[in-house]
Amino acid sequence: MRRDIEAKVSVVGAGYVGLTTAACLAHLGHRVCCADVDVAKVERLNQGKPGIVEEGLSELIQEGLASGRLSFVLGAANAVAASQFVFLCVPTPRRDDGSADVSALEDVAAEISSHLEPGCVVVNKSTVPVGSTLLVERCLGRQDVVVVSNPEFLREGSAVHDCLHPDRVVVGADDQRAAASVGALFAGTGAPLIVTDAATAETIKYASNAFLAMKLSFVNSVSNLCEAVGADVRDVLLGMGYDHRIGFEYLRPGPGWGGSCLPKDTRALVYLASEAGYDFALLREAIASNDSQLQSVVAKVRAAAGGQLAGTTVAAWGLTFKARTDDRRESPAVEVIRCLVSEGAMIRAFDPTVAGVVPDLPGEVELATDAYQACKGSTVLVVLTEWDEFRWLDFAQVRESMASPNVVDARNLLDPAALRRLGFNYKGMGRQ
Ligand SMILES: NC(=O)c1ccc[n+]([C@@H]2O[C@H](COP(=O)([O-])OP(=O)(O)OC[C@H]3O[C@@H](n4cnc5c(N)ncnc54)[C@H](O)[C@@H]3O)[C@@H](O)[C@H]2O)c1
Repeated sequence: MRRDIEAKVSVVGAGYVGLTTAACLAHLGHRVCCADVDVAKVERLNQGKPGIVEEGLSELIQEGLASGRLSFVLGAANAVAASQFVFLCVPTPRRDDGSADVSALEDVAAEISSHLEPGCVVVNKSTVPVGSTLLVERCLGRQDVVVVSNPEFLREGSAVHDCLHPDRVVVGADDQRAAASVGALFAGTGAPLIVTDAATAETIKYASNAFLAMKLSFVNSVSNLCEAVGADVRDVLLGMGYDHRIGFEYLRPGPGWGGSCLPKDTRALVYLASEAGYDFALLREAIASNDSQLQSVVAKVRAAAGGQLAGTTVAAWGLTFKARTDDRRESPAVEVIRCLVSEGAMIRAFDPTVAGVVPDLPGEVELATDAYQACKGSTVLVVLTEWDEFRWLDFAQVRESMASPNVVDARNLLDPAALRRLGFNYKGMGRQ
């Protein structure tokens, strides 16, 4: 990886995106100061501890701290002084009406305005509705500062890899020099640079996430179709994926898409399209189809339990919205568990990233210390997150500990033939 001319950069928000961006920019040779409002987080980061599960992040943070190119401070105003570039990576959560809440962005802009160096470039990396670059400009109220849009496409679980090897870097700005200078920060990654106006860059981000959500909803629909007609979804998807126009990425059925991005970004796009006078019916249907996918997993567990869940003990493997991350925001696993609890099931859950109290789970849910313990005395085991380690467990021991050997594999993670040989009743997604 090429090292670039050192730039002075600050990053506001040390979450999944901000922390990864800060650590990677320091690795690319820049001098980076990263700010957050969370005192405990800043202290932990200064000790080299990321506090989130993300492959390779800990090593990059320690490398950055050791080289002196990466530092962490409390409060955005303390980070931005003397910066040539200021990245905004704060949350843009979903409001009740589906729109994106950009108040954190407005607050940060107001907070840093008087601390910015003349000529500095403010880079918005948060996912925001079209028009937000102009909004940040207005909040800053500085004629001598340029604001550009630089949407982020990293995937949690491979955030460092995606940040250092992006498929593309998108920069939206009217000021071509500012756009080129932001692109140059990432020159070491060798990624293609796409320069657009701000509204187009903001739309690229939402359109990309909406497309991925629709692809996932489509695959889940194909999986349901396979069940109805007696086809095997694995082979159907294999046959589809070799077509380069389709590809293999995002071609796995599951309990529905979730996480901190797709649910909020799809709703935000439906909202902003509707505000602009366009009914994005296709996307609305993808969202509705995702909601019913959760219910199809609940129905499978109910059927495996003999038609009703009240008083049934269910073992749940996985709580995060996907494997290789500790993120449970809008996790389908948690949503399925909530539905099962509401029907009276008793849940014993295990996830490799979770220990102690889990505030987002219903109080009735018991947390197991390992996958085997979760299964003790259970009538159904439901696999909700595709953690690889679940595949290699001793299923004879699992069967022994269960009251009835029923498995609902919402991720098609396990080997149906091997489980059936051990006496399990196995139900996967879109296959016999
Ligand atoms: N998580 C992803 O996979 C991903 C991918 C692409 C884009 N995005 C977008 O990036 C943005 C950030 O997402 P995230 O997942 O990193 O969020 P996050 O919740 O993990 O992190 C946000 C951080 O910002 C901090 N913060 C909030 N207000 C602040 C302020 N005034 N000053 C300093 N710090 C402040 C919070 O304490 C938190 O640590 C969102 O708009 C999101 O949609 C996220």
